[in-house]
Amino acid sequence: MTTVLAIDQGTSGTKAMVVDGSDRVLSVVELPVRPRYLPGGGVEQDPGELLDSVLESGRRAVAEAGARVDCVTLANQGETVLAWDPRTGEPLTQAIVWQDRRAAGICAERDGSAELVRDRTGLVLDPYFSAPKMRWIRENLTGDGVVTTTDSWLVHRLTGEFVTDAATASRSLVTALDTVTWDAELLELFGLADEPLPRIAACDEIVGETTAFGGPAAVGGLVVDQQAALLAERCLAPGEAKCTFGTGAFLLANMGTAPARSTSGLAASVAWRVRGRTSYCFDGQVATAASAVRWLQDLGLVGGAPDLDRVAASDADGVLCVPALAGLSAPWWAPDATASFTGMTLSTSAGHLVRAVLDGIAAQVAELADCTARDIGGPLRRLRVDGGLTRSRVLMQAVADLLQAQVDVYPSEHATALGAVALARAAADPALPLADAVVDWTPSTGYTPRIGPDEAAGFRTRWRTAVETSAIPKEGQ
Ligand code: G3P
Repeated sequence: MTTVLAIDQGTSGTKAMVVDGSDRVLSVVELPVRPRYLPGGGVEQDPGELLDSVLESGRRAVAEAGARVDCVTLANQGETVLAWDPRTGEPLTQAIVWQDRRAAGICAERDGSAELVRDRTGLVLDPYFSAPKMRWIRENLTGDGVVTTTDSWLVHRLTGEFVTDAATASRSLVTALDTVTWDAELLELFGLADEPLPRIAACDEIVGETTAFGGPAAVGGLVVDQQAALLAERCLAPGEAKCTFGTGAFLLANMGTAPARSTSGLAASVAWRVRGRTSYCFDGQVATAASAVRWLQDLGLVGGAPDLDRVAASDADGVLCVPALAGLSAPWWAPDATASFTGMTLSTSAGHLVRAVLDGIAAQVAELADCTARDIGGPLRRLRVDGGLTRSRVLMQAVADLLQAQVDVYPSEHATALGAVALARAAADPALPLADAVVDWTPSTGYTPRIGPDEAAGFRTRWRTAVETSAIPKEGQ
């Protein structure tokens, strides 16, 4: 019976949760982390704040649980990178967050290799992924130390090991998707051939030991946060999909163990590598979901996420919003896209604008669901959802309406941490089938479409036009 400390180190906060072998959540501690938004598309985090939040939340969670922890697991942001000194463990740069678009030029310089990159990695040549940001650090910040995703640094600080996991490596643009190994040609392409790179561990592997949270505990079950939520929501069969509404919104669909490439503009990644087998997923991203809500809050239009449904008008009165506040990812891959509101008049109210932002997030999710349906070869009849913004009934209804599909809300706010718990259990007990490691669940709420297919299609056509005419910069602009 393994007691697990799961740490979900995300973009806007770090959550530590202790779960015992009977699925009881013994404690949850959450600490915010604050990304800094810079002119020119920069988004940075202070690595010291990330590490402190991991240690502090983990220690408090263990103390509150009053239990001995057998295994510590970490779910990470996926594509956030930093340089650090492998001798001392000290960070040498800020963490460059996945939302940061300053490496767009590095991708543009390599545009001729876009097809090679897509074929080899399953990903699109875009600054969202790790390698362009690693190159950007080398060209703009420092040539010293090692440059890795945040998980490798945090795990090094906990265990002294130099590892990443198969899912995180698959988000880099320098990992061959079919073999899940670093790819020499792509490392050369990004000027990273001489970089020491972490060993790629399986997601059910014990990678080391830590005493950072009390007595010695194994460290293992490492994974990307989105993939962890996919697992927690039991998307174990090909075609099963979830969307996590966090800082961004991330729609992932299990594609099974054969690594296909998306033909509709999604990314293809490792979901997890467990029991010697790699499972893959398609994934699409809305770069700003809770980030867009925070932006509304900064402008004084809402008091915060809990306020959304009170402020949002019952319809947007013709206002359309493309909430591309940090560019557009799948399927447009336009890092320079900007957010837009169209259709405003003197009678447009704050409620209309808030509603338009929620509709815009839902419309983006619906586009991703269409792409997923094409890739998996059939419509998504059901979407599992989790994350803080699932508390907005207005947003969830809009998602069901525009997808024309059932939306089932995961009953816990902790899907990512619970997915990491499942992998830690699998790591601690090699005989445990993965499906048995995942906590069972039934939806807390469900949403069915309240509008018909014609109305949904009409809205989506208008919204797509707004994307093409006002959000994506034209050549020469
Ligand atoms: O790809 C970035 C994503 O995994 C970050 O997730 O929860 O920190 O918004 P989150």
